[in-house]
Amino acid sequence: MTLDLSQARVLVVGAGLMGAGIAQVAAQAGHAVQLFDARAGAAEAAKAKLAQTLDGLAAKGRLTADAVAATLARITPAAALAGDVDLVVEAIVENLDVKRALFAELEALLPDAAVIATNTSSISVTALARGMRRPERLVGMHFFNPVPLMKLVEVVSGLGTDAAVAQAVFALAARWGKTPVHARSTPGFIVNRIARPYYAEALMLLQERAAAPELIDACLRAAGFRMGPCELMDLIGHDTNFAVTQSVFAANFFDRRFTPSLVQQELVDAGFLGRKSGRGFYRYPEGAPALPAAAAAAAPRAARVVVHGRGPVAERFAAALPDTPREPDSDWTGLDVDGRPLCLTDGRRAAELGAGGAVFDLPLAAAGDIAFAGDAGTAAWLAVLGLTPRAMADVPGLVVARTVAMLINEAADAVQQGVCDEAGADAAMKLGVNYPAGPFEWLAAWGAPAVAALLDRLDHHHRGERYRVSPYLR
Ligand code: NAI
Repeated sequence: MTLDLSQARVLVVGAGLMGAGIAQVAAQAGHAVQLFDARAGAAEAAKAKLAQTLDGLAAKGRLTADAVAATLARITPAAALAGDVDLVVEAIVENLDVKRALFAELEALLPDAAVIATNTSSISVTALARGMRRPERLVGMHFFNPVPLMKLVEVVSGLGTDAAVAQAVFALAARWGKTPVHARSTPGFIVNRIARPYYAEALMLLQERAAAPELIDACLRAAGFRMGPCELMDLIGHDTNFAVTQSVFAANFFDRRFTPSLVQQELVDAGFLGRKSGRGFYRYPEGAPALPAAAAAAAPRAARVVVHGRGPVAERFAAALPDTPREPDSDWTGLDVDGRPLCLTDGRRAAELGAGGAVFDLPLAAAGDIAFAGDAGTAAWLAVLGLTPRAMADVPGLVVARTVAMLINEAADAVQQGVCDEAGADAAMKLGVNYPAGPFEWLAAWGAPAVAALLDRLDHHHRGERYRVSPYLR
């Protein structure tokens, strides 16, 4: 059976931050929308605020006055829950029992064919459907904040969700100008699960005292991430970020891979919650201190340089140093500088390379800061690639390679476990958290054997569950 929601009459329940945005997007797509909130006056207030926002857009010429009037005319603040609708989008408080009670109330009013979509960000859709008269009509429709701007919608199926319902909500989200991806209801769905290592690896590096927060942030920004993990955790708030990490840890039966960080617990205990409390990793309003300006390095000199390995990094060295001899069949990638290896990290430490050696991080961008460990004179050759070498402790995988490998690993597990497919994971991470590329795009460029080898070395170094390689990568 195909189900078509393109002309659906919509009821949005919860006129808070998310519900107001959802009502706007639905009304702009032409739907008649009722907006209900348990707090008296909240729906009217949300509509008045929306009117202001849309008027502002019209003043800037981004919308016509007619479009503003038509959108607002389609939104009706409702005094009570209504049954004369085809789709309910629920965006109330994030609480299992309160949401279940709402669904029971709604099911007493709605026709059998009506669909209920929940915007829950963390509660199991399977669990929410329990006790419903028609559990097959409940589906997750997980928008991101701010709703009118963020393209991603995770369409989350619980165990009992009818595939036709998920498909209809998927098609509807696309009609609303969004990029929907299918997800199976598992802890964190797609984005909040795959993103865990972005925070966790930064916290591990800090716990190992491998690098300062500003260096970690600078290197990941240079790799194309909008914000480094430390400044991002400061922005989200350590209390919130720590709570999500704890809930993902618990929801996975305390799989040690998701173990929360003592470093973050300390910040929470101290009340150093980030921007909102004036202090987290950094102090605010100042924010992260700039890294020291790189010393104007003299052009590095050597009697004999050889480019080792194949792939994008070897090609960059070859292009920057034309006529340099090559050893494409080498078992490492980088430059041999008078017998001293400058080696792209493969999870080995500089100490394992011999005297004068250095390892450098995965260069994902054309320029900017890049971490290295080992001999600074050898690492100075990174400047020929337009990169600014930054010294850190000699730990496996450095900053970017370690973080990206773990993001790939988590995405691989998610795909293996049927949470999403590869294209869905890529779209979700690019659109939901603005990653510069999707995990499977990184994987295609880097190669599964290299990613698995790096993770194996991290695993060997740490001897725990955190770095176990996803069977999907094998
Ligand atoms: P909010 O606190 O801004 O709005 C919630 C609204 O629901 C309030 O106006 C409240 O009065 C109303 N409400 C509470 N219980 C109700 C009930 N039983 N019946 C009718 N109205 C009720 O919260 P926000 O941020 O809009 O979140 C709503 C939902 O969206 C939550 O499930 C949250 O997890 C999810 N979500 C939030 C995101 C965010 O960035 N804030 C992102 C994605 C999902």
